[in-house]
Amino acid sequence: MKPYVIVVCHQKGGVAKTTTVSALGAFLAASEHPTLLIDLDPSANLTAGLGLIRQVKKSAADGLLGKEPLANLHQPTGIPGLDIIPSGPDISAAYQLMATRPQSETVLRNSLEQQELPHEFVIIDCPPAMAAITTASLAAADLAIIPTQCEYFAIQAIGSTFNYIRQVRSEYNPQLSYKVLVTMFDLRGKLHIQLYEKLQEYYGEALFDTIIGFDSKLRSSQIAGQPISVFASKTRAAEQYRNLAQEIVAYVHKRRIPRPD
Ligand SMILES: Nc1ncnc2c1ncn2[C@@H]1O[C@H](COP(=O)(O)OP(=O)(O)O)[C@@H](O)[C@H]1O
Ligand SMILES: [Mg+2]
Repeated sequence: MKPYVIVVCHQKGGVAKTTTVSALGAFLAASEHPTLLIDLDPSANLTAGLGLIRQVKKSAADGLLGKEPLANLHQPTGIPGLDIIPSGPDISAAYQLMATRPQSETVLRNSLEQQELPHEFVIIDCPPAMAAITTASLAAADLAIIPTQCEYFAIQAIGSTFNYIRQVRSEYNPQLSYKVLVTMFDLRGKLHIQLYEKLQEYYGEALFDTIIGFDSKLRSSQIAGQPISVFASKTRAAEQYRNLAQEIVAYVHKRRIPRPD
């Protein structure tokens, strides 16, 4: 069966895209769901945050251009059940080449559909831009996760990210669904709570029940080159990302099994 493909995207940087990919992937893998991460950000934060920057064998660049099957590009992260196709210095050149090639938006989707990968989930980390690479990722995805802080400007930026997703959906991928994830939440912050209520009113079911609080251990785990599940598995953020993984597994299960009605 084709893996379930999740893309984590937002046109803003610093909203916890990479952190979410790493933590979610690690907790899915830990709960017996083999997962492949794909780092498509030229800044390679995901690859670095898993301590792999010096061990990159092949990057995602050749996969984006359809030159090499994805099955030849992934490498283990050292965490059981979790593999990665890392980012590398050749990703930026691949972006530029993509722009000159016809139908480059669907190369990634075709690769994911045509190849037998041993993974149940694929999670793609995108750069903070709604450009060719994000289009190609969204065209290949089942679910887009948009992480956001409960800050006015971050919430404002969701609007244009949504417009972009809707456009990709109508052009390439009518099955694409999306969900908003609140991150770096301060439970004692009145403004955060007020803005969260607004998000609930506006997005309803498209908002994850799980909320990720502010936890500086997440930052420390990236510096240590480990996902939070390994670095500090008992912290609040670890617990919340574990819950998010469970929420996603339940969500996918509901959508993949046809209902009797
Ligand atoms: N819940 C959180 N609490 C505290 N810091 C966080 C949290 N999530 C992410 N961060 C930190 O915020 C910064 C930006 O996160 P990152 O995942 O790199 O964002 P993006 O990929 O969207 O640019 C990083 O230093 C990360 O460690
Ligand atoms: Mg990032």
